[in-house]
Amino acid sequence: MAKILLTGGAGYIGSHTYLALIDAGFEVVIFDNFSNAKPDVPARLQDIAGDRVHVVEGDVLNRTDLDAAFAAHQIDGVVHFAAKKAVGESVEKPLDYMHTNVGGLLNVLAAMEAGGCRRIVFSSSATVYGDTDVQPIPEDHPRTYTSPYAFTKIAGEQILEQLTDDWAVGILRYFNPVGAHRSAMIGEDPEDIPNNLVPYIAKVATGDLAKLSVFGDDYDTPDGTGVRDYIHVEDLANGHVLSLKRLIDTGESHTVNLGTGEGSSVLDVVRAYGAACGDDIAYAIAPRRDGDVAVLTARPDKAKAELGFEATRTLADMCRSSWAWVSGQRRNDK
Ligand code: WQD
Repeated sequence: MAKILLTGGAGYIGSHTYLALIDAGFEVVIFDNFSNAKPDVPARLQDIAGDRVHVVEGDVLNRTDLDAAFAAHQIDGVVHFAAKKAVGESVEKPLDYMHTNVGGLLNVLAAMEAGGCRRIVFSSSATVYGDTDVQPIPEDHPRTYTSPYAFTKIAGEQILEQLTDDWAVGILRYFNPVGAHRSAMIGEDPEDIPNNLVPYIAKVATGDLAKLSVFGDDYDTPDGTGVRDYIHVEDLANGHVLSLKRLIDTGESHTVNLGTGEGSSVLDVVRAYGAACGDDIAYAIAPRRDGDVAVLTARPDKAKAELGFEATRTLADMCRSSWAWVSGQRRNDK
């Protein structure tokens, strides 16, 4: 039974990937400094999965912490989630982002090499495509960064592309992950006012925030608001399982989009969330947000061809699962 180390495994996508890997029969170790994850996430994962959760508390910027993880566990593969991911924050703190996202990756790769493990799945992002009219976007689209965050994702991909053939690398370019686990016991749990659309709407639905600002309704889209490729976080987690299986079974490296291929506008999401929570979501049209593009949707066929990956959950599923999580509809039947 292969054992997988998840750096940042207590985070939003990491914790959902943890459960998907356990369901798929893997052993899993969470490596996290809990800078962006609640301390009780492992306990909740244990409630859901039933088995003891293995955690190594540490920082990807600390090589000693990483070496300790490889000394304590025979690691067969790594999923590297641990990174900073707020586009706006990266503009204010570019050096922090390069230090953590690029320096952290280099540390992980060095610890892997020393630990005799050369399989890595890398958490990348559709942001590597920049602002493009080519929609839906194929993986061979040129990469260009529009923020320091995007730069760090392109740099990470390019570092991984330099590795020799005895490495097996899965690069997964996420579109817009949203939603929560079917148990409603884990989900997106932002510390302060969310930058992203769905967690913001969720706080309007719970009454924590008064109304949503819709950043622009004058884009060249069906209803004038921004269109994105939202993907359920459980589908996204399944993409990681399939990527690891391919690396372990064939050693074949790959770079794929993880999206549905379907675009939804901001107002589509507002309506879907209103249906999920049974109440209209209050909103007002506001000026465009700097850096936003009109449309961002994935060409999903390469992930299907190379990994057998297909997103199955709908926007309604995403909103229902998010609402169940934020409204505390904890389901002990899993
Ligand atoms: C979605 C749509 C906004 C908030 C970002 C990062 C990307 C990735 C996912 C890390 C857009 C609109 C949003 C609000 C709004 N993160 N919106 N009011 O910008 O597509 O992607 O998160 O990998 O790298 O760039 O996601 O959820 O912020 O925005 O109208 O309060 O919702 O204009 O059209 P985005 P988002």
